[in-house]
Amino acid sequence: MAPAEPNAIPFRLKGEIPVFEEEREGWKGYIEWELYPEKKKQVEEILKQYDFPDPPEFQLVPLPKTNPIFTGERFKQYHYATGLGHLVDTSWKYVLKEKAADMTHVLQFPYNGEPPGDRLVSTEITRNEDFFVRNHGGVPEIDPEKFYLDIEGLVNNPKRLTLADLQNEELFPRQTNVVSLQCSGTRRLEQIHQYPGDGDELINAPWAEGAIGAARWTGVSLKKVIKYCGGLKDGAMHVELFGADTYFKKGKVYNYVVSVPWRKVKINEVLLAWEMNGEPLPKLHGFPLRAVVFGYIGARSCKWLYKIRGIKDPSEAPVQRKEYLYYTPQIGKQNAMYSNGFSIQDMPVSSAIISPKDMDVITHDGKIKLKGWAYSGGGHWPIRVEVSPDGGAIWYEVPTENMSTKYYYAWRLWEIDLPLDPEGWLEFCVRTWDNALNTQPTYVRSAWNWDLHVTSSCHRIKIYSVNRSKPATAARLKALEEKGLSITPITKPLALELETDEQYEASMNEQRGREPLE
Ligand code: MTE
Repeated sequence: MAPAEPNAIPFRLKGEIPVFEEEREGWKGYIEWELYPEKKKQVEEILKQYDFPDPPEFQLVPLPKTNPIFTGERFKQYHYATGLGHLVDTSWKYVLKEKAADMTHVLQFPYNGEPPGDRLVSTEITRNEDFFVRNHGGVPEIDPEKFYLDIEGLVNNPKRLTLADLQNEELFPRQTNVVSLQCSGTRRLEQIHQYPGDGDELINAPWAEGAIGAARWTGVSLKKVIKYCGGLKDGAMHVELFGADTYFKKGKVYNYVVSVPWRKVKINEVLLAWEMNGEPLPKLHGFPLRAVVFGYIGARSCKWLYKIRGIKDPSEAPVQRKEYLYYTPQIGKQNAMYSNGFSIQDMPVSSAIISPKDMDVITHDGKIKLKGWAYSGGGHWPIRVEVSPDGGAIWYEVPTENMSTKYYYAWRLWEIDLPLDPEGWLEFCVRTWDNALNTQPTYVRSAWNWDLHVTSSCHRIKIYSVNRSKPATAARLKALEEKGLSITPITKPLALELETDEQYEASMNEQRGREPLE
């Protein structure tokens, strides 16, 4: 499967291929936009000439059972139109190189992908090849020897630091932390299945439960780097982070830019990381340098970081100001503004059942094993996980010895052998309590929002229970087995008589017939 070909919609360029120079030698795929308003304007004019395809309708119809689920045709075309088509191929090249072959490719370009559930919860530290990826543009290829980071804006002594400078332990103490990154789109599918919202396939990609993971990140605390630059000045309260990738929004072009408050930096919760699980950052995860912002929405953990600026107010860049906004349920296409949603920062407590899967048919002997993850942002940690076999009336606590290590900034994996007597369709759900006694909204509807962010309600799945410890069920399973038949799929009509005439008669006698006496 190749990314750029065949294009579902043929693309015809209008005029010559535009050329936008790469900014620095050894930095392939990095076009600087933020310093050049005239260049941005030029792109705007180019984009205006085209009628780009609408995003596919994907919320009022079933998602295609394809992998990639979406190809991102519109975004590919923005790149072709502006002479950046090669980034489409580069991005896919690294997906094939760095990611497990069976990732679910939610969006092919810009690449968004999550791992299969069984591996997601198989290790407390997520393998690099299984870690979800959430990109807004192509992947820059930066030569680490040619890399440098500029620290400027409202800092006392602006500096330019190479990777070697940052890694010099004489200058900066090294810091390693286990930290979860979670995209605010995690579990978005549940919101979509209830009520559709804004329909941009890039912005509102239909993630399942896998846009989360935990890694051991190594780097330096941004606080130390700012201190090395003499600290912030002139009342700067925020720090702006610039990523070298190109991002298109509403007919305009940008670099990926976000910001974090200084008070977050001050408590050593913003790491400039070059290592992920003991290896150099993979290209898809921001090589050679990225920010890791502990406990915040993943969007602030800027990848391919090349510039940091001290600023007074939160960044005016679109990712900070115009995206990752949380609206009330009364807000939608009719009245949404950038200013009437709040900006998502700390991630709330949430959890998911990863095994079994929704709609599974489970044959068991009175107990079912459930596995999943639980996470709370903002420096909180999951303290109790509870699962319910009946939609939330009865709750069983996951034994603490069945929960993985406690970290201030990472998820905990859990498992439980849940006693289960009933048969037929059941609704399982999970809820987590964090150390501040926060817990999850009960239903998706309770926290539904137009941009379909932060699906933190109790995760619910439907399963069909077949309990072999029940004599009738045991007998049916045995009869099926003797004929080499299976109970699944349950919708397939049973190829056996339900009972013999003798059994029927005996039962009728016992029930004193079908009809009342008089
Ligand atoms: N940084 C840059 N430069 N470009 C991006 O598209 N995506 C952000 C963040 N940092 C992004 C970025 C989002 S929305 C998330 S959730 C995390 O990266 C995902 O990190 P990962 O792809 O390493 O898992």
